Amino acid sequence: MKALKIAEGIYDVGATDWNVRDFHGYSTENGSTYNAFLIIDEKVTLIDTVKVDFLDQLMAKISSVIDPAKIDYIVSNHTEMDHSGALPRLLHRIGKDIPVFCSKMGHKNLASHFGQKINYRPVADGEELCLGKRTLKFIETRMIHWPDSMFSYLVEDKILFSSDGFGQHYAGPERFDDEIGEAIMPYAKKYFANILWLYAPLIKGVLNKVRELNLPIEMICPDHGVLWRQNPAKIVEAYTRWCDLQPQPDKALVIYDTMWHSTEAMAEAIVAGLAAEGVSAKPMHLRTCHRSDVVTEAFDAKALVIGSPTLNNGLFPTVADFLTYLKGLKPKNKLAASFGSFGWSGEAAKLVEDELKTMGLHLSEDPLKIQYVPNREGLEKCFEFGRRIARAMR
Ligand code: FEO
Repeated sequence: MKALKIAEGIYDVGATDWNVRDFHGYSTENGSTYNAFLIIDEKVTLIDTVKVDFLDQLMAKISSVIDPAKIDYIVSNHTEMDHSGALPRLLHRIGKDIPVFCSKMGHKNLASHFGQKINYRPVADGEELCLGKRTLKFIETRMIHWPDSMFSYLVEDKILFSSDGFGQHYAGPERFDDEIGEAIMPYAKKYFANILWLYAPLIKGVLNKVRELNLPIEMICPDHGVLWRQNPAKIVEAYTRWCDLQPQPDKALVIYDTMWHSTEAMAEAIVAGLAAEGVSAKPMHLRTCHRSDVVTEAFDAKALVIGSPTLNNGLFPTVADFLTYLKGLKPKNKLAASFGSFGWSGEAAKLVEDELKTMGLHLSEDPLKIQYVPNREGLEKCFEFGRRIARAMR
């Protein structure tokens, strides 16, 4: 396995995980990569490592450029184990006491993962490290998306190593934005919606901080997916837009699960009502669509209409799962409503409403409930429910 040269003396030595399909609950239908970067200078420096299972891939790629024993410095931009998991074994294999540069919180968090025996070198925000002909500048980016997160900027080459920021869970033959083009943007959006949505206000602050530093950026190298070399401004502009959390004013999503197709029939009638008022709406069945794909669609929808049948006096499990996931992402600036079919007790629609209220979303309608199977009159109610939600979106 060979390293990929990305600039003079700089290599991508990370791993490709072609087979991962579930990344802690996020569906990765095209796998992912755990990017790591090797800088050959007077001080040979490795930026980030990989998931522990991919240590051999990392070692092979480093070895294609240089003897791993010649590594002088390691930089850990982020503690999460898809980037740090291989660190202790890497150090063990190299067999020497390499300093590991990290943020102050990185020091604390790495020590909580791997103990105190590693030679941690915590750095301050803005601190610089001379590698010889090159300089690395560390930029603290707390909560993007862990307290330990930081970016490292290679001053002379104008390369920003951005950890999880600007990443995408995508494994493919392409390694650069210009090789894949616009097709990478849905992966970047899905990453933002599922990993970074709740930190959007903080990310806005970091983007402003980086702008104020006035650093020329010729390439952005995230820890997942393709590297932004042709047009790094494109992903920065997309993040600037996504951080504003402005929904598409005419987009609604009807999210549901169903036991005997009654809540499904309600969902489809609600979609028809929304569409009749000119809203772009679609139903998403929670056992057909993965929660992370539903969240990607929900991210820029103006209205979320969520339906659950009542099962054993409660929510249907997939709906409870989705509500928990959505709540954690702290959605804002959205209208919401709930619905569901029931047999004899009928708690679910109200329970969905309670969760939506807890999230602070604006409820424009009381929950809509229909017993057993919706008849023509029931479906008409659903259609009108959809129409009223569409009008409330204006
Ligand atoms: Fe890709 Fe937060 O780890």
